[in-house]
Parts: sequence; C-alpha cells; structure tokens
Amino acid sequence: MSNERVAVVTGAAQGVGLVTAVTLAERGYRIVLTDIQNLDSAVAKLSARGFRVAACVGDIASEAFVRELAQRIERDHGGADVLVNNAGISMICPAEDTSAEQWQKVMNVNLLGPFLLSKHLGAPMLARRSGSIINVASVAGLSGIGHRSAYNASKHGLIGLTRTLAAEWGGRGVRVNAVCPGWIKTEMDVADQSSGAYSDADIQNRVPMGRFAAPQDVANAIAFLADPALSSFISGVSLPVDGGWTADGSWDALRIKTRPS
Ligand SMILES: NC(=O)c1ccc[n+]([C@@H]2O[C@H](COP(=O)([O-])OP(=O)(O)OC[C@H]3O[C@@H](n4cnc5c(N)ncnc54)[C@H](O)[C@@H]3O)[C@@H](O)[C@H]2O)c1
Repeated sequence: MSNERVAVVTGAAQGVGLVTAVTLAERGYRIVLTDIQNLDSAVAKLSARGFRVAACVGDIASEAFVRELAQRIERDHGGADVLVNNAGISMICPAEDTSAEQWQKVMNVNLLGPFLLSKHLGAPMLARRSGSIINVASVAGLSGIGHRSAYNASKHGLIGLTRTLAAEWGGRGVRVNAVCPGWIKTEMDVADQSSGAYSDADIQNRVPMGRFAAPQDVANAIAFLADPALSSFISGVSLPVDGGWTADGSWDALRIKTRPS
C-alpha cells in the first residue's frame, strides 16, 4: 500500500465524472471509478496515461453495492481520501405529470446514492479523521427551474445533506462541500436538448458569461475543494460554477444589451 491519496468518483464513465477522474489523476490521486455503465473505456483512457486506476460497476442507489464498494476500497486501497458524488440523472417533466415512480427514481440516484456513499465511505474517513467529500449539485439546487420538480428537489436536498454532514463531521476532520454547475455540455445535455426542452441560445442568453460550463470548469472546482492544501478551512459551501447565473437577477434583454455585439 502506498501513501498515494485515493479519490473515488461516481458516474465516471462519461461527462463530468470522467473529466474529474482525469483531473484528479493528473494531480496525483489514485482513482477508483464507479458507474452503473461499463467502465472499460474510462479505465483504458486513464491507464494509457500511466495513471493508477481501479473500477467497480454498480448502482449507487443500492446499499448492498455501496457497502461492497466501501469494503473493497478499504481492503484494496487502504480507504478513500476523497469522494466525489457526481453520478446523477435528469428528469424533465411538468410537476403535474410526474409520477411517484419517476420522482422516487430521481431521488434514489441523486440523493439516496450520495447519502449511502457518504455514510459508508465517510465512516472510515471519520475514523481516520481525514477526508473530503464533494457533491455535484446544480444551479437547480439553488433556485427553482420549471419542469424539473424531482431533479430540483433532489439537488436542493443534496445541498441540505452537504450542509448537514459539514456540521456533523467538521469536528472530526471530514470536510463536505458541493459544486453547483450551470448547464454543461455533456451527454446529459444532449439527451435533454433532444426532447426539445431548450436550446443552446436559451442557456447562453441566461448566463452572464454567455456560455455553457465545460466539464473541466466543474472538475477544476472539485479538485480545489478536494485538496486540503488549497481549501483546508472550507466546509459546507455550495459553490456555483455557473458563469454568474445564480448571481444574476436581470431580465434577458438587459443582460444581453450589456454584451459586445
Ligand atoms: N449536464 C448538465 O447540464 C449538468 C448541470 C448541472 C449539474 N449536473 C450534474 O452533474 C453530474 C454529472 O452530470 P453529467 O452531465 O456528466 O451527466 P452524464 O449523464 O453525462 O453522466 C452521469 C453518469 O452517471 C452515471 N449514473 C447514472 N445513474 C447511476 C447510478 N444509479 N449508479 C451509478 N452511476 C450512475 C451514468 O451512467 C453516467 O455515466 C450529475 O449529478 C448532474 O446532475 C449536470
């Protein structure tokens, strides 16, 4: 067993999770990838660059899987220093048409999963009095966005969980923070846009900085919150990575008028 620090990233097969895994590997962490999808191509991508990487496929909403993952991480890697709760699912549907099953599925992946991972990977962190947990929430966890009742509620809940664990665990060496990205160009966005729910221009016009987030923008914020050398006294925050979205109460015409043509 080496002294290398170990980072666990959920939802690491693609999108923000995969870019975060690469970013943390570049900063010297040994990476444990987990996802409900096959991880062979993600493992190959990291291994090809000489990074030390392990993978474990399973459903984060299953406590049996999360318990087994936590045991494996203790046994094979000597525990996790960093946990990135990134896996999540989207659901665009008017509230009045959202079924209890759809609601529950989103809650299971976006909120129960991060709770179970924090519980089972966090307990050994508490025993070692050291660790950093970063939850990937959303601007949808900071304000209401129409047609996303389950998703928004799950991300608001994730911010509540972040604050609660920061309060409960701060005195025992474990920091817990969240990042709140605006819209990001990933497979999730491609799938959401294919339903015709919004366009690139809708997002670009809403964001003061006039663009989508890049997965790397989010990964950089996660790397900052992971690293005790950079963020040792930061716990319980929900950091917007949104180009100014949540700060901006302007109407669209006013925002767009201030842009160079
Ligand atoms: N894309 C956006 O615009 C956006 C904006 C704000 C926040 N987010 C959040 O960022 C995170 C990453 O999103 P992304 O855009 O990279 O999405 P993505 O759909 O590209 O990737 C999500 C990953 O999570 C995995 N996953 C889904 N359900 C799982 C489960 N039950 N168990 C394990 N893994 C599971 C998927 O297989 C996938 O690889 C999510 O939490 C999402 O809610 C995304």
